[in-house]
Amino acid sequence: MNARPITADITLMGAVDWDRRLFDALIPLPEGTTYNAYLVRGSEKTALLDTVDPAALDVLMRQLDAVDHLDYLVAHHAEQDHSGSIPAVLARYPEAILVTSPKGKELLQELLDIPYQRFRTVADGETLSLGNKTLRFIYLPWVHWPETMGTYIEEDHVLFSCDFLGSHRAQSGLFAERDVVMHGAKRYYAEIMMPFRSFVIKNLDKLAGTQIDMVCPSHGPVYKDPTFIMDAYREWAGGPPHNKVVIPFVSMHGSTLKMVDHLTAALADRGVSVERFDLTTSDLGDVAMSLVDAATIVIGTPAVLTGPHPKTIEIAYLAGALRPKTRFVSIVGSFGWGQRIVDVLGGLIAPLKAELLTPVLAKGDPRAADMQAIDALAETIAAKHREAGLR
Ligand code: FEO
Repeated sequence: MNARPITADITLMGAVDWDRRLFDALIPLPEGTTYNAYLVRGSEKTALLDTVDPAALDVLMRQLDAVDHLDYLVAHHAEQDHSGSIPAVLARYPEAILVTSPKGKELLQELLDIPYQRFRTVADGETLSLGNKTLRFIYLPWVHWPETMGTYIEEDHVLFSCDFLGSHRAQSGLFAERDVVMHGAKRYYAEIMMPFRSFVIKNLDKLAGTQIDMVCPSHGPVYKDPTFIMDAYREWAGGPPHNKVVIPFVSMHGSTLKMVDHLTAALADRGVSVERFDLTTSDLGDVAMSLVDAATIVIGTPAVLTGPHPKTIEIAYLAGALRPKTRFVSIVGSFGWGQRIVDVLGGLIAPLKAELLTPVLAKGDPRAADMQAIDALAETIAAKHREAGLR
């Protein structure tokens, strides 16, 4: 893609990565992604905000052919997909000063060996004049790294929010359409921001007194009316969970599947919505997104050797790491002789600090008594959700 003007003085640089299908060798990217850098031309000075993943350096360098002088390169975040091309840009513009937070400087020096002479560190709230434009730097810690900051143009009311409020979505158009972007934005929130829910809310609160007419994130399209995405983040991070159970499961010989089917029907009969994922075919991002507003997680697993199926270990670990606002957890499944399912999965989901509801484990094919226990579990879940007033 070529550089694309957003306003008379702000240009979207960077790359649209239509074909990338995995981020961090972990996160599926069904819609690709973008690495957004932004060029801001003031009446006296020019600043480039962030760079791109080194894999897309050639795209940025070609776009920079139109920029013969750069006063400032602002680094909002030291992760490679934005910072990895900083050394090349600094080499191209020996006059450019690298502007970042003190923590950003520390990380960039450690990660990229950038000489200290190139840096200018800025405090939270500090401003930098480009002439007719004033950049105000706003620390946005832990969304999602400790050094993350944003830049706000005071005259234009534009916020460059770095990873915060972004989406992994490749598109040719500049701007986000609410109905198109929300699915990917929620998925992105789940995968990247959810572990830092309290900081999401703190940073939204911090921005609340600032007039923001446009949000330019580091991934995905630009928000011309950012209210909806900021409201969505507040709801995802701080709103109550829904009257919903997520069931990630694996079944080897059909016993666990019978229990999951029974539980699904029993919950539906009690007015509890269910989203279930067969982990042998599911996309991890879909599971993560489902966890954003689920009140309860029930993992379904057969025993493999002495413990749970490895695919359920992965999802239990992920749930514990992503820290959704889950209130209740349980486990259903089938075993032959190994009985460490609850020990292993219970330990992995412990970081959720959710109440463990009595697991139901059948020896072999589930019998009537096992299904009665499943019914009791469904009844307990429905009652807990009712008592909590969940909808
Ligand atoms: Fe898009 Fe945290 O890097």
